[in-house]
Amino acid sequence: MAWQGLLKEYKEFLPVGENTPPLITLYEGNTPLYKLEKLSEKYEINAYAKFDGLNPTGSFKDRGMVMAMAKALEDGATAVICASTGNTSASAAAFAARAGLKCIVVIPNGKIAQGKLAQAVMYGAEIYAIDGNFDDALRYVRKTAETGKVALVNSVNPYRIEGQKTAAFEVVDELGQAPDYLFIPVGNAGNITAYWKGFKEYNEKKQTGLPKMMGFEASGAAAIVHNRVFENPETVGTAIRIGNPASWQGAVNARDESQGEIDEITDEQMIEAYQWIAQNEGVFAEPASCASVAGLLKKLEEGKIEKGSTVVTVLTGNGLKDPDTAIDYSEIKPTVLPNDEELIMNKILGSVKA
Ligand code: F0G
Repeated sequence: MAWQGLLKEYKEFLPVGENTPPLITLYEGNTPLYKLEKLSEKYEINAYAKFDGLNPTGSFKDRGMVMAMAKALEDGATAVICASTGNTSASAAAFAARAGLKCIVVIPNGKIAQGKLAQAVMYGAEIYAIDGNFDDALRYVRKTAETGKVALVNSVNPYRIEGQKTAAFEVVDELGQAPDYLFIPVGNAGNITAYWKGFKEYNEKKQTGLPKMMGFEASGAAAIVHNRVFENPETVGTAIRIGNPASWQGAVNARDESQGEIDEITDEQMIEAYQWIAQNEGVFAEPASCASVAGLLKKLEEGKIEKGSTVVTVLTGNGLKDPDTAIDYSEIKPTVLPNDEELIMNKILGSVKA
């Protein structure tokens, strides 16, 4: 049977009751788990990438948003609000359009990728671009939501975490059991919290095991790693440009309970992993997503991953969301040619090996 969307597929694990109609969906979830062939061979491990960039709005946020939006409808909300580094706002705007709710988004001005802004615009959100960062925006929307006039759909809304935990279910369903390690980018820390919850719930019900949770922050926004708020977070991975993660404690619990680690990677390491995985495995994920792959490469180089381990990296967003970073950092530039058949053919054929 065709995929029916997360609320129907994982109903027994989600807070979906008889009063949660309609079960809205954009057919989110059911994203591919790719074997990373070259990386696996090189390091003698079984490495995979869960590509959540293939969700309907191009990021993992759709998993949590479908749940949060269904609950907002159930509670009789007429409007939803979120702060965002871009993906949450794109997802909220899409599901609000689907659900017939008004969507208000607050974003850091000039600090979200173009594709994400285009999505919020296209799905018809009301957009406030503030002269502040994500942490400021989150503070304002939380206060606004306290009035009871709008429903908050950031991951501090527990329904977001409920929806997002389904990614862990899919990983386990595909592998037959939990991997040894789960590598994941950390921004506001909702997703690492959600994955850990998902792995634990599945293990309780099906004895599928638990991975070590390996979270990675950008070094310019590494609050959890350094155990202090970053007042002015900075990173090329704008999705995780967050200095005071709301689910800080959830991330620490996931790390400690799983005997995992939360570490940082530099922007250079992030960009290197971003280009490597596109050019060697054919997977184009957005820069912040690749904190997971960069983190895996870092731990492999430190010799911390045993040979034969099964490792899943989470690729949280689609590379097409951020064309500017792709082009700005690429060493590949189009060769501009005049409209001349002979010259064009000579140039092309000269570059092809005999
Ligand atoms: N990767 C991408 C592509 C993201 O958009 C985010 C968060 C993360 C990773 C980090 O996930 O916050 O659960 O630790 N983006 C949020 C947003 C903050 O507003 O779109 P997290």
